[in-house]
Amino acid sequence: MQKKRTYEELEKRVRELEKEGAKRKSIEEAPRNTNELLEKVFSTTYMLIAYMDTDFNLIRVNHAYAMADGRDPEFFAGKNHFELYPNEDNRSIFSRVVEKGEPYTAYTKPFKYAEHPKRGITYWDWTLQPVKKGSGEVEGLILSLVNITRRIKAEGALRENQKHFMTAQENEKKRVAQELHDSIGQSLTAIKFGLENSLDEKAGRTAEAQVESLRAIIPLVQQAIEEVRRIHTDLRPSMLDDLGILATINWFCREFQMIYSDIKIKKHVAVQENEVPEPFKMVIFRVLQEAMNNIAKHSDANFVRLCFKKTDEAIALTVEDNGRGFDPGNALSLKNSEKRFGITSMKERTKLTGGSFAIKSIPGVGTAISASWPPDSSIT
Ligand SMILES: Nc1ncnc2c1ncn2[C@@H]1O[C@H](COP(=O)(O)OP(=O)(O)OP(=O)(O)O)[C@@H](O)[C@H]1O
Ligand SMILES: [Mg+2]
Repeated sequence: MQKKRTYEELEKRVRELEKEGAKRKSIEEAPRNTNELLEKVFSTTYMLIAYMDTDFNLIRVNHAYAMADGRDPEFFAGKNHFELYPNEDNRSIFSRVVEKGEPYTAYTKPFKYAEHPKRGITYWDWTLQPVKKGSGEVEGLILSLVNITRRIKAEGALRENQKHFMTAQENEKKRVAQELHDSIGQSLTAIKFGLENSLDEKAGRTAEAQVESLRAIIPLVQQAIEEVRRIHTDLRPSMLDDLGILATINWFCREFQMIYSDIKIKKHVAVQENEVPEPFKMVIFRVLQEAMNNIAKHSDANFVRLCFKKTDEAIALTVEDNGRGFDPGNALSLKNSEKRFGITSMKERTKLTGGSFAIKSIPGVGTAISASWPPDSSIT
């Protein structure tokens, strides 16, 4: 209620002032006629407001305007706007407002303000309103600006993030496509070949021999089924949803151990299931999966230390091996990363969820990758 009254009061006073404004004799009188409330609004709003004459000499600026330059409002009185901020394009816009008596609004055209050393590059929505005498002649201009730098930067960052996300998704698709081609595609080709062979009448086989050759196809079909299951698990391990990340890590290590029996895994888990934010679980699994696949594919290691823990500083997953190591700078160079996305995608996934990713590798000694998140973070 309180708020509403104040607002209505403000509106009423604005109307009164508008009436009064028509009677004003000179622009110098304007600020003195402003009542206390408007004075307060003028001096406390975050909007930058400057009042100037038709030659663009500043008469009065508000606190926000002065602060943006780190100065006192008094500094500006009597100074010319375009001596302070030279800009020929804007000068012609200002002149047109004086000439035509129509306001100008640059809401959709952010003003890149690069010239000022203190401000750096900032972006502004701004409007220029003519103030007219009773006769209709323009006697002054009100320039108001809103700093939208933060918004523009946030939007830029968001776009950047989305781009990364799209690339990560694209890579994921390429990966799945390749998997389908390499595994299921191969199996199906073999099955087709086997079937054609069995049905080849020219071979002149006995019925028994034909049954035998058909039977030989069954393991190929079985293999294809397993491939489908593997790709499916790879895409989204249902275990992650059903049993959680800790159980999934255990399961993954067991499977890994079965396939790569000469790589010993030492696991250290010091985090509770409910301490791991839900959206991180998939990322953590993916990072583990890729790190372990890389170890199997490239490292020649016989020992892996896996550590998943929560401390006051972070929730962190680290995977270390004692393999041959490599030069991460080189592996991530543009030329190489075009074809390989394992490391890139671990990094992207971690960063997208607000974490940080690091990789250390010493040739001949081993490799350590780590993904960590601030303990209380979560994607919103
Ligand atoms: N644990 C490791 N030990 C030794 N070298 C590694 C290890 N992990 C990665 N590398 C090296 O870094 C390179 C890049 O790894 P990355 O996972 O990005 O691509 P990739 O495994 O070659 O291909 P992809 O993951 O796309 O199938 C690898 O080709 C390999 O040379
Ligand atoms: Mg890889």
